[in-house]
Amino acid sequence: MPEAKQAIGLFDSGIGGLTVANAILKQLPNESLIYFGDTAHLPYGDKSPDTIRYFTKTIGAFLLSKECKMIVIACNTASSVAYEMLENMAGDKAYVFNVIDPVVEEIINKKYKKVGVIGTLGTINSNVYQAKIKEKDSSIDVRQLATPLLVPMIESGFVDGQISHLVIEEYLNAPELQDIDTLILACTHYPLIKKEIETFYAEKNKKVSVLATNEIVAIHIKKFMIEHGLINYEKKGKNAFYVSDYTESFEKTTQLFYKESVDLIHLPLFK
Ligand code: DGL
Repeated sequence: MPEAKQAIGLFDSGIGGLTVANAILKQLPNESLIYFGDTAHLPYGDKSPDTIRYFTKTIGAFLLSKECKMIVIACNTASSVAYEMLENMAGDKAYVFNVIDPVVEEIINKKYKKVGVIGTLGTINSNVYQAKIKEKDSSIDVRQLATPLLVPMIESGFVDGQISHLVIEEYLNAPELQDIDTLILACTHYPLIKKEIETFYAEKNKKVSVLATNEIVAIHIKKFMIEHGLINYEKKGKNAFYVSDYTESFEKTTQLFYKESVDLIHLPLFK
């Protein structure tokens, strides 16, 4: 059975999942993280479910070999299509978390009724948010919109200027997203533009709660760890950040997503 002293494993298609790593360390500062960014295969957003499951299997095996007590799928796209597979694969060796279920729980608990979802093509086409929310409460209206320009925009550093403003405005003005009371940012890159999205609604005098999945997921994981005696009360190990492909630009981009500077370790897992 997983024990408190073991590390928390996380992975994403690239470095966007660092927003989840950040949020977890804010809640649980004494945990050691092992992060894997599959930079050789990003973006996952436009890959097929089978391909994403194949990548997840390989990365999952790596994180299990590192004896992680839990694996957090820090990517909405992989959470949409590969969660059940990874959970089966991990068995009783590690707990597996996706970034979707805690957000669905929040929607139900807070009694939101008209929910917008934005994410990659993979996440939106999987229909996972709609299905999971409707399963719990079929009266909730769920509207979804794929917003594929946002990931490359954010990774290029356009988060709070004229360009990001125009792209965000174009997407949020889409007919699918009118009259909503909540907007789920269903991509681990999007916390970086949360403020801009909130400003968009504030300027229009619209009351829309903007939910960043990273914070909700971190709080959910902390609660689970308290309940299961899995918290580290003293910092023991270091955090390690692996990538399947290395370029200097990846290392530079990490600073957008992670507060401290990160030394990326190149690990060509798929060779
Ligand atoms: N981080 C991924 C997600 O949350 C988006 C990036 C990608 O398409 O690989 O869906």
